[in-house]
Amino acid sequence: MRVYPTIFRLAFSWMDAERAHKIGFRAIRLAHSCGAGRVLQKFTAPAASLQTQAFGLTFPSPFGLAAGFDKEGHGIEALAELGFGHVEVGTITGQAQPGNPAPRLFRLVEDRAVINRMGFNNDGAAAVAPRLKSARAALQRQHPGVRPVIGVNIGKSKVVGLDDAVSDYLISARSLAPAADYLVVNVSSPNTPGLRLLQDVETLRPLLTAVGEEADKAAGRHVPLLVKIAPDLSDEDIDAVARLALDLKLDGIIATNTTIARTGLSSSPDTVAACGAGGLSGAPLKQRSLEVLARLRNATAGALTLVSVGGVETAQDVQARLDAGATLVQGYTAFLYEGPFWAARINRLLAKHPSRR
Ligand SMILES: Cc1cc2nc3c(=O)[nH]c(=O)nc-3n(C[C@H](O)[C@H](O)[C@H](O)COP(=O)(O)O)c2cc1C
Repeated sequence: MRVYPTIFRLAFSWMDAERAHKIGFRAIRLAHSCGAGRVLQKFTAPAASLQTQAFGLTFPSPFGLAAGFDKEGHGIEALAELGFGHVEVGTITGQAQPGNPAPRLFRLVEDRAVINRMGFNNDGAAAVAPRLKSARAALQRQHPGVRPVIGVNIGKSKVVGLDDAVSDYLISARSLAPAADYLVVNVSSPNTPGLRLLQDVETLRPLLTAVGEEADKAAGRHVPLLVKIAPDLSDEDIDAVARLALDLKLDGIIATNTTIARTGLSSSPDTVAACGAGGLSGAPLKQRSLEVLARLRNATAGALTLVSVGGVETAQDVQARLDAGATLVQGYTAFLYEGPFWAARINRLLAKHPSRR
């Protein structure tokens, strides 16, 4: 019997969503610090058959935790103990910033979705870098075989204008690349004004080129570089980003971030309107995220690693993304609804799936 749905229904669903997230995340970290996570790991560790190669790294599972859950690298080891093959930390910005005023995270339970306008609340690159460094060393010690991978997702500080975006991303690349297994340039959050304009290839080319060079220089090795795109891009713009990524020999594309669309929802229009502005994630994003993956797959013909994210809830969803051309798959929103053993459950079912063998 699963206990989490009852906890969610009786406790979390009545609380402010950000407060529920903080309590849940604190409990996960507590389980790690008191040693319970290490014990659990015997049951949550992905089967060896799930090991996946992507951009020169070996991942214990193709399934990982998307950016936004652990924005500042406070719980990487604890989350890895739950079975995620990678944890993408961030978005981290060059400067510390508080994000948007609360309330800024809302559940649409009927739709198994959330709307957020967090606005990149984080301690800033300089403060997060040492946490990543020590988490990396700890993962190495705690997972002597194939260890979970740390992705680092960087974005633009709100106070920095678009004209100075490149130098702001470079601050993050310089301090964070040495502790990152891979780096993601996030240009697709709807909650930082103007950010998504950086997806225009004319602007994206110099940004990705500069970040890639700076990251490799700072780390003294090649740090795989990916770009994360929005589901709201037109098909032509998706093709243009794919062409650019191939041209720049980028290591991959992550698709997709949250959407500003509000279509196909079962929640009442009043409930949705009361949430206000922000990015919608979870089940309603599933279809569009799959479409973007298919579009990218066609445009890149297998020449680029694709990471699919958006509306993934089950092992079947993960498998569908792998079958559609993704090498790695991520999820976030369903974690809030499914609870701490979500990744372990997905891994167990994936390992049983014949098409992975
Ligand atoms: C509360 C919340 C915060 C998020 N913060 C970030 C973020 O800081 N950076 C980012 O690239 N994506 C962020 N995301 C987007 C997720 O990484 C993911 O792309 C999106 O939610 C779609 O996946 P899902 O449907 O599995 O949640 C956030 C999502 C949520 C729900």
